[in-house]
Amino acid sequence: MKLTADFLVIGTGIAGLSYALKVAEKGSVLLVTKRQVDFTATRLAQGGIAAVSSEDGDFASHIEDTMVAGADLSNPEIVDLAVGMGPRVIADLIDWGVQFSRNAQNEYDLTREGGHSQRRIFHAKDATGREIERALVAAVHNHPAIQVLENHIAVDLITEADDQTQQTAENRCLGAYVLDIAAQEVITIGAHFTVLATGGAGKVYLFTCNPDVATGDGVAIAWRAGAAVANMEFMQFHPTTLFHPNAKSFLISEAVRGEGGILRRSDGTAFMADQHPLKDLAPRDIVARAIDHQMKKHGDDCVFLDITHKGADYIRDRFPTIYTTCLEYGIDMTSEPIPVVPAAHYLCGGVQVDSHGESGVKNLFVIGESACTGLHGANRLASNSLLEGVAFAELAAQASLERLASAQNDFPSIAPWDSGKATDSDEEVIVAHNWEEIRRCMWSYVGIVRTTKRLNRALSRIQLIQKEIIEYYWNFNITSDLIELRNIATVAELIVKSALQRKESRGLHFTLDYPERDDLNYKQDTIIAGATNTE
Ligand code: SIN
Repeated sequence: MKLTADFLVIGTGIAGLSYALKVAEKGSVLLVTKRQVDFTATRLAQGGIAAVSSEDGDFASHIEDTMVAGADLSNPEIVDLAVGMGPRVIADLIDWGVQFSRNAQNEYDLTREGGHSQRRIFHAKDATGREIERALVAAVHNHPAIQVLENHIAVDLITEADDQTQQTAENRCLGAYVLDIAAQEVITIGAHFTVLATGGAGKVYLFTCNPDVATGDGVAIAWRAGAAVANMEFMQFHPTTLFHPNAKSFLISEAVRGEGGILRRSDGTAFMADQHPLKDLAPRDIVARAIDHQMKKHGDDCVFLDITHKGADYIRDRFPTIYTTCLEYGIDMTSEPIPVVPAAHYLCGGVQVDSHGESGVKNLFVIGESACTGLHGANRLASNSLLEGVAFAELAAQASLERLASAQNDFPSIAPWDSGKATDSDEEVIVAHNWEEIRRCMWSYVGIVRTTKRLNRALSRIQLIQKEIIEYYWNFNITSDLIELRNIATVAELIVKSALQRKESRGLHFTLDYPERDDLNYKQDTIIAGATNTE
């Protein structure tokens, strides 16, 4: 089967949906998602969206906080650009129907999180992402120019470089091959502009608060198509996910600390005061490392987050989702501290893009967590990700709309998917086994505290697994599990290779072999060029 659209958008979180809504007035949009439309990391976002609320607001301090959290690796021009778009981003979301929480005076209730010097985070109680996803999905469903394909997973991009008869000076994206999971059929989608908004890659690690879909698909398929990736070593570990044998890494929002929560050891000792002037509200890399250190030093399985002093009524009203979920696991956060541990949360690196979200492959835009725009540097400031998602959706939409008229006269033919001699696999256990091995290996050797020896150990294991995956990939019919495994293996390898290149400690990358920051040699992005046809 073959489909065409002006705009092919892969991924239906805040970035993909915003882009679709921005361009749909001018052309046809195909939105592709591998589960249901709202099964996204956006929907799980609790804390909120950091933004200056009006054009005469305090942009300077938001810029400063972003730069400090990013350990001086953020691109100042991109920080200015994204922070400067804050009021417009909030206005767009409100126009699309998002209802942010208000206070008793009926003003927007702004909260605070780690690394923020002031309250500037718009939220919908403790389920901001759920509210944003609800409103954007409704807006998309109401738009006649947008068609949503659920249960479809991208296999690979289609580029001019794939077709040896069409070699041009620049590699251009022509669409994507997409697997219809139910029908087990690969369809060919041709598009003038392809947008990857597939979110992050937390599933590369054993413990993560990301949803199951966070397998780094956008990063892996863009890299395979020849796009460079940047700063992949900077995986952010959220300091506080619920520690419980039956909880599947449920996030305890940083807004709990923003509203006064205190981290304690099991004996009740608060430990952040001597770590950073912002104490429990220090940037995430610092808090996660401090927790890791406390757990290792005292042989504890977790630490505790205590907000009991704020009173039961306040807690139930401000954090209804967290309160209810904790209670389901037998923890009453109004009267006892919450057991917490760090877990993989956010990929600060990703596909290297320009100031309009375009990758090194022409007409291929990458937005949201899959992209490395330069905003986050070595460590993302809390709640800057939803801001970036909408801001770069707008910038990418502007750039693609400017080119749409000329693109419409120029649509090359593309070859349908060729499954070669592939047969159905009789050993799917290999996929499950390799998946587990990668995630354990990444957690043990490429986690919060790294060493060169551990990284090299991880690299050799992952490269061995990669060989097996490639062989399996070409011999058997593809399934969504196999596509995801191939992608997490690629992303894992890119993370390890990037970490090995950075011989210093900065932001989220901390190595015992080079514990200091080295501005002279490493105050720059770690770039890995896109794959060539032989990789
Ligand atoms: C949180 O609520 O702690 C997550 C917010 C974020 O990652 O930006």
